[in-house]
Amino acid sequence: MSDQTPVVLSREGHVAFLTINRPEARNALNTESLHAMREHLATVHQDPEIFAVVLQANGDRAFCAGADLKERRTLNEDQVREFVRQIRATMDDIANLPQPTIAAIQGAAFGGGCELALSCDLRLMADQALIGLTETALAIIPGAGGCVRLPRLVGAAKAKQMILLAERLTSEEALACGLVHEVAPAAHFAAELDHLLQRLLKNGPLALRAAKDAIDGGLNMTLEQALEHEASCYKRIIPTEDRLEALAAFAEKRPPEFQGR
Ligand code: COA
Repeated sequence: MSDQTPVVLSREGHVAFLTINRPEARNALNTESLHAMREHLATVHQDPEIFAVVLQANGDRAFCAGADLKERRTLNEDQVREFVRQIRATMDDIANLPQPTIAAIQGAAFGGGCELALSCDLRLMADQALIGLTETALAIIPGAGGCVRLPRLVGAAKAKQMILLAERLTSEEALACGLVHEVAPAAHFAAELDHLLQRLLKNGPLALRAAKDAIDGGLNMTLEQALEHEASCYKRIIPTEDRLEALAAFAEKRPPEFQGR
């Protein structure tokens, strides 16, 4: 992997891998890496051949150590405002991807690193990693969606505990409060990630997009609106070839072969 590229986009079959590539800075996010990430996210967003996205990092010390604190020292107040706007927009771009996303948290995920994970749909964490929104220890607050997404995930009481105490949770603690979905032994992390991907990819890719839209869209609506939104997401998948393939495969007692059409 090139030392020069702060975020690498690669593909294996129908899966896109976005890899933060600043291991010497514990994959901290600086201005350059945010720009690179957003460019790759725009590419992934519009590609119908990408069925799932993995957000990961180079090296196992850190998934992402948050905002680049060395760069931060060089920024004036206006530049800090602009950086916070950019990092928040990056998290929104991730959350708004139509494909299902997996955060592969192989090392520490603090501050913006935790917010990256919160922007994904599924979170797999290595057993030795730590995770937390630790910004208040630096006299700032989570500003890339953390104060909003964390309480929606784990409840306001737990989110306040984590943020106000700048807690660094173990994988066991993160699993217990629902912050991550699965914990994998560090030694078998790649295999567990692959297993999770296979479980995801055996399902209809267009159905995955529609279900994600129905869930995320519905969260910000009244119950009635959300049910209408779910119905509109369902309508989108009725004319698909994959739906007919699933029915044929069921009748023929074989696994379906979905094409994303
Ligand atoms: N921004 C910029 N550089 C960072 C960084 C960050 N957020 N986090 C780590 N680094 C740098 C260190 O300064 C160090 O650089 P140096 O070699 O020039 O001294 C290098 O990455 C390695 O860091 P180190 O702490 O020695 O690595 P580690 O593997 O022992 O620990 C962490 C990794 C992530 C646990 C630890 O670096 C850490 O706690 N970082 C701060 C995380 C944080 O508070 N983030 C919130 C940001 S809002």
